[in-house]
Formats: sequence, structure tokens, C-alpha cells
Amino acid sequence: MPVHVFPSHQHPTPMTQSDSSRINTLRAAVRYHQHRYYVLDDPEVSDAEFDALFQELQRLEAEHPELASPDSPTVRVGGLIAERFEKVRHPAPILSLANAFGPEDMHAWRERLRRLLPEEEQAKLAYVVEPKFDGLTVVLHYENGRFVLGSTRGDGEVGENITPNLRTVRVLPLTIPVTGQDEKSPAEAQRRREIPDPIPNPHSPFPTPPTRLVLRGEAYVTVDDFDAFNRGQEAQGERTYANPRNFAAGSLRLLDSSISARRPLRLWTYQVLILEGVENPPASQWESLAYLRTLGFPVCPEVRRFTDDQFDELVDYLARWHDLRGRLPYELDGMVVKVDLLSQQERLGFTGKDPRWAVAYKTGGEEATTKLLDIAVKVGRTGAVTPNAVLEPVAIGGVTVSAATLHNEDYIRDLDIRVGDTVLIKRAGDVIPKVLRPLPELRDGSEQPWQMPAVCPVCGQALVRPEGEAATYCVNNACPEQLVRKVEYFVGKGALDIVGFGSRQAELFVESGFIHDLADVFDLPWETISAMEGYGEKRVENLRAGIEAAKNRPAARLLTGLGIRFVGEVVAEIVMAAFPDLPALMAADVETLSAIEGIGPKIATSLVEFFSLEPNRALIDEFASLGVRMSGEAPTIAEGVAQPFAGLTFVITGTLPTMSRDEAKAYIEARGGKVTGSVSARTDFLLAGEKAGSKLEKAEKLGVAVWSEDEMRGRAGE
Ligand code: IVH
Repeated sequence: MPVHVFPSHQHPTPMTQSDSSRINTLRAAVRYHQHRYYVLDDPEVSDAEFDALFQELQRLEAEHPELASPDSPTVRVGGLIAERFEKVRHPAPILSLANAFGPEDMHAWRERLRRLLPEEEQAKLAYVVEPKFDGLTVVLHYENGRFVLGSTRGDGEVGENITPNLRTVRVLPLTIPVTGQDEKSPAEAQRRREIPDPIPNPHSPFPTPPTRLVLRGEAYVTVDDFDAFNRGQEAQGERTYANPRNFAAGSLRLLDSSISARRPLRLWTYQVLILEGVENPPASQWESLAYLRTLGFPVCPEVRRFTDDQFDELVDYLARWHDLRGRLPYELDGMVVKVDLLSQQERLGFTGKDPRWAVAYKTGGEEATTKLLDIAVKVGRTGAVTPNAVLEPVAIGGVTVSAATLHNEDYIRDLDIRVGDTVLIKRAGDVIPKVLRPLPELRDGSEQPWQMPAVCPVCGQALVRPEGEAATYCVNNACPEQLVRKVEYFVGKGALDIVGFGSRQAELFVESGFIHDLADVFDLPWETISAMEGYGEKRVENLRAGIEAAKNRPAARLLTGLGIRFVGEVVAEIVMAAFPDLPALMAADVETLSAIEGIGPKIATSLVEFFSLEPNRALIDEFASLGVRMSGEAPTIAEGVAQPFAGLTFVITGTLPTMSRDEAKAYIEARGGKVTGSVSARTDFLLAGEKAGSKLEKAEKLGVAVWSEDEMRGRAGE
């Protein structure tokens, strides 16, 4: 347990302390613990200890009305009832963002930036990628370290004064810097240096408050808090909100701030609009975020910085933003990409309402209505049995949708979805379409309510719904459908990505009895398969090559493929980066794992539980003995691959005849070469396939040698 700098609840109150200084100490302590609890998510004291501090403060303040302060943390209970909201003119326009809908848009955006910047500036380009929070934009004003005004965005020029409501948001600092401004002891100094900061922070741990700070943030509520609130409201026959965003917005625009105070509002801050009276102001978005965090503001840790060289990686990261969304407890509306340097932001300026230096990356969700023909249940890889909508095919955003998820039994019952209903469907990017709700006004009386079947449609085992869970399971470990789904996931994109191995192969090989566990994927009876219909020589050769190549993927892919609870692509990469190989990870305990940045106790426990089971350990041994890679590094000479590309730098572009880009990258790295994202004078070879675009042009201009896949294989001595 860290050293307590606020001794009030550990030692008896010194009799000499005056009530006034006691109030100050208590205020600082309450603020400090609220910050640890709400912002850092890392409380030091129990709820009861905290309540004791809070109540003592409330009592003393009640006894001494002359010592009241609008900045006291007790003020967050709200109470002011506004007649209507006052209008506030923003000190600078609160702009919106232009959208980008895919990799092409992102590349076009970057090209435009580069055209607008002189060459020496292009070299300094870097980007910050942040989640696009789906809440209500707020503008917060601080003067001499005190929160004085907060407003909504309004029309971008004029917003509404919602200060009393914002004061009730627990994570919003009423004074800055939050920690220790009343406490300048050496112990406090020491402690503050020990607070780890996920963003490298060039600023002093003792910032003096700016004379003026105006910043922008997003107020939101988590999905769980939203659901709980709606359930409570429903039980009491009160109004519910349509989604977390509306709930957040509605809660901040209540005229009675004591009601806002009871709403579970949270906040992320992400943009400094005005900063005055600071000696060494941040020069970039990345530094601004670190600075805001230093002052005690909540700043989302899910932010990344990419240099211009890494733009391809940035685009890959964006393409996987659904991963991130799935991991976060609140809703996202896409991602935001910003030019990092503030000087460049200024130079790039605006077009109309949108800054040129930032874009919102989205995958365009769209809705449509169609008929629900049937509800079919599907067994997933964890044994969870989920109801799926069988729909009359309907086009949404250029794609024909004929199936959608219905989540679970309760979802169907709560929304009263009936077979035969006309339903509203939403398709967002590449995620599975979902049924939002039925349109009961279109019923003709023939619609049928639905019930979860009693037995597994595949193996006939009785289905089980554990107490307190929404999901229903087929608990038969030998249910063939489960294994098919596990294999499908294992060989799929994001995991081992085996070319030529899809659902059809998973089903066929499980049904034929070739696959009993995941390791069997690497131990298939090729002679038997070659004799099967549809598996000619070429097909078999390709499939074998695909499986062989997959053995050499970084171990993070294998880890992803195991389908451990809470361990998706991103988590697997974070975890594997912390260990030399999979056996080392298997030996780690919960404490070691939770110490990794980005890994919480839930994930750590899930990993430890998985690897504590003997069959799972045996499975990993089996992988190892079949020659599947256990580490994350590229293969070394010691492993028997020659290094013809040692010291050479490659860039890959276009579509290659037989390899995916990832495979080509692994191939080059296995032979000692390095692969980077963009062509420069330092590039030795451009590996180009069909539809190579600007990179090919650039390589030709710079005189960089261009190879085809065949040439590369030839040079590698194949
Ligand atoms: S930057 C001029 N960053 O998205 C800079 N905006 O369409 C523009 N939003 O309502 C804002 N998360 O408030 C930025 N990480 C983030 C954001 C974000 C959500 C909101 C923004 C506005 C909308 C813009």
C-alpha cells in the first residue's frame, strides 16, 4: 500500500488543528481519493474510510458556513435549480470533424497534408489516434486553477451554461492541479513522482496552475451504468433513455443539478483550446494529453502516437478499431486521427467547420427494416448458444444482409421480438448486423413469440442457463459444433490467418474426424485428404503451404487463436511483448501479468486460469512439438533459415500473387530483412505486386530497385 500523505484517517486528529485547517486537509484528502478512485481507477482506501472523511468534512462545513467554498468536493451533490440555461459564447469556435470511411480516405488525407506542408515540415509529421467518444461535448473554463464555467457545444459558437451540473461530475477537477496543491511536503513530492504516467510526460510533476485554461472534453456514461439506470427506471415505471449518449446529454441538461448529481456521469478531456500563464506549454497533442493528465484531468489511456513512417501501421490500427471498441466499457463513434504538432495544426488550418489537421475515422453504420422470417440458434466456440435472426434479405450500405444477431433470450423477450415481425436492423462496418427492435405497429396478428429450445440443436444435449447469466450454454464438451467454431476462429484473420482454410474446411475436417483439438490443424492426414473430392493436387499444396506458413506466425497470433476469455488480438500482442515466449507466459502469475501496462486483473486471472488446466498445457506442448512458433521475434539463423536479406530494408506494396502482406513481411524478416511502411532514400527494395500505386512511383523516382514476389523468392535462394 502506498504511503499516505493525508494522515487524517490514520492518526487521531491533533487537538491543536483548527477547524479551518482541518477543513482544508479534509478537502485535499477527499479530492485526492476521488481522483484515485474516479480518474486513476486505483483507490487507496476502502469506501467506508472514504465516507468517514467525506462525512467529517460535510459536518465541519455545516458547522462553519463562513468557511463554505464553491470548490469543496462536497459541492458535487448539486442543488442549484436553473430556470433555463444561460447562453455562453465560446472563446474560439468549437469545430466538428470531417469523416474518413476507410484506408483510401486515410491515405488521401495524408497526401493532402503533405501537399500543404513544406518538405522540412513533412519530415516532422506525426499523428495521435484517439477514440471518438460518443457522449456530449463540453467546454470547461479554469481561471487561476479554479473551475469557473462549463458549457455545452451548442451550435459551435454559443453553448449553454451547465456549470452547476458539471460540478457534480466526480472526475471533473474543481481545482487544478488536483493532487497536492494543499500539500507541498517532501513526502508528497516523492509520492507524486511515483505515480506512473502511461504517456511520457515532459512536464514537471508540480505544475503551477495556468492563469487561464479552456479545454474540451466529452461527458459520457458507460454501457453498464446506462443499462442499470434504465432497468431501475423501468422497474419504477419511469422514462428510459434510448442510448448512453442520450442519457449523458439528458443528464447534463437537467435543470435540477441535484438530479444530475445522481447520474453516473464520466468525462474524458482531449483538447486544450486556450492556455495562458504557463512557462513551458505543450507543443503537441501528445504533450497536451500528458499535461492535462498532470493537472489531474481524466485522459483516456487508449491513445497512440504514430510517426509518418508508420502511417501504414496507423491505418491497420484503425481498421481494427472494433477490437478496441469491444474492449472498452463505453461507446465509441469511431476514432479520431490528429496531426500531433500544434504548430503544424495551426499551419494546416480549417476548411469551413472542419480542421484539416484531424479526421474522424468511421465505418458508417446504417439501418434498414425487413421481415424476421425465423430465429435459429447457433452454438459458438465457448458453447454459448445464441439466437440469430433469419431475415428477408435487405440491402444496407451496399451489402445484402440476411442474418443478424439477437444476443440472447432476454434480449428477445425484453424487446418482445416475434417471428414474423418487421424489425429494424443496424449494420455498422464489418461487425455482425444486429436487430435493434421490432416495429409492433406493423403487426397483423400472425407473429409468434419465441422460446429458447430445451436441447442443443446439434448434439441433443440439454441446454443450461447458469444462474445470473444472460447466456445459455451447450455444456457438452464433445459437441462437434463447438470444435468447428473454435477451429474457425483459430485459423481465421486476427489469429493464425491460414490462407485457404475457412469455415468449410473446419466443418469438413471436424466431421471427418481429422481434428479433435486445435493442434490437429497442424497434423492433418494429407493422404486421405488428397483422395477427397474437391481436394486436387494444387489445392492441397496451397493449403499445406498455408498451414506451414502459419506455424511461423508470432506467438501472439497463436495466443489469440486459443480464444481465451478477454484475450483478443490487441491484448495478446501486449501480453506477448512482455515475455520471451509462450512457456514464459504460462509460468507467470496474476501479479506479474497485472503489472503489464494495459493488462488488468480480469485478463490476468483469465490467462492464469486457462494455463493452469492440464489439457491446455498439454495443447501448448503439442503445438511446440509440431514446430509451431512459441516466441514473438522473427526467426533467427539459429533456427536454420539463411539470412540473405540481412541489413536490407524493404517496403511492400500492391497485391502479391501468392502471399498476403503479412506473409511477405514474415518471409523477409525470417531472412534477416527489415520491412518499413514508406519508401525513402533508405529503402533498398520495393516488393511490388499488382495495383501498386504511389509507392511504386516514388521508388522509381528515387531509383529504388523494384522486385516481384518471384524475384524475391529467387534472391532468397528458393
Ligand atoms: S477533436 C477540432 N477528439 O466528436 C478538433 N473530438 O465530430 C475536433 N469527439 O462533438 C475535436 N471524441 O467533441 C476530438 N478524441 C476526440 C473526440 C472528439 C469525441 C467529438 C467532438 C465532436 C465530434 C466531432
